[in-house]
Amino acid sequence: MAETQLDVRGLGKAEGYHTLRAQFDALCEGVSDPIALMSTMACVLHFGFGYLWTGFYRRVGESRLMVGPFQGTIGCLEIEFGKGVCGTGAATRQTVIVPDVNTFAGHIACDSRSRSEIVVPVLDRGGELIAVFDIDSEFIGSFDEEDKRQLESWMEWFAR
Ligand code: SME
Repeated sequence: MAETQLDVRGLGKAEGYHTLRAQFDALCEGVSDPIALMSTMACVLHFGFGYLWTGFYRRVGESRLMVGPFQGTIGCLEIEFGKGVCGTGAATRQTVIVPDVNTFAGHIACDSRSRSEIVVPVLDRGGELIAVFDIDSEFIGSFDEEDKRQLESWMEWFAR
């Protein structure tokens, strides 16, 4: 059991993800409960990278997202598929990288400090969309293909 919240901001991005992944895998070995996994993942990544908001919106019903386990300031509770960055990721089932939220039409500003964002779809073993994972950064251009690749691999936990 890891005793401390790791802060990987001094490391390169790939090494940071790798370090946090080792912590997460050790903590969650044998765990399959999605809420426990979402809570722990949000916590590990949030305190690891120090972003503004890190967490999940869970799918409820056909086409609505409801806030799930997260770390950060209060955001919106519900998002319809197709609305904002989260709703776009849910509707398309594709990762969405927004380098500058001011240029994304329909961005939902839950925290006015947010400048860039990444949303990654979360599918279960049957390929059903169960949630989206969202990170908000207070800096422009925080997320790139490396984040997409790494986070998509993290989300594969829910398809096990
Ligand atoms: N910015 C997101 C909304 C969620 S939060 O900021 C926590 C969006 O446009 O979907």
